[in-house]
Order: sequence, then C-alpha cells, then structure tokens
Amino acid sequence: MDSSNNVGKAPVAVELEEGKAYAWCACGKSGTGFCNGSHKGSGIGPKMFNAAKSGVSYICACGKSKNSPYCDGSHKA
Ligand code: FES
Repeated sequence: MDSSNNVGKAPVAVELEEGKAYAWCACGKSGTGFCNGSHKGSGIGPKMFNAAKSGVSYICACGKSKNSPYCDGSHKA
C-alpha cells in the first residue's frame, strides 16, 4: 500500500514468531513497522498478518512496499 504519510525511510529488523499475529503499520507513521495507533485520522489502518517463519524479518516502515508487511526495496525509490 502506498502512503503519503510515510515516515520511516528504511526497513526495521524485527524478531517474529511463526504463526503469531502482528499488526503491521500500513500508514508508515509509527516508524517501527508495527502499529502504535499513530494512524488515527489518516484513513489508513494497520494490516494484520501471521508470521510465516520464526526469526529476523525486515518489516517495511515507509508504507510503500508492494509486498507488505515485508520490505521490497520500494523505500529506495
Ligand atoms: S521500508 Fe518500505 S519498502 Fe523498504
């Protein structure tokens, strides 16, 4: 999802647990990769996802990834 409010400029390395549910920050305002409620008033809500595997993943913090919640390099554009 594209966002005009993207704050993060690079992915965030996070430790995920396989099968666990997480709320990815789709608006980019939290800057952490995970929803912290900063989206209020933006019209863009968090996207829930279940981690496919345990370990470190690079979560999009810019809100531009076409493969959300994971970084696809779109932050470089
Ligand atoms: S941080 Fe958003 S695409 Fe890389």
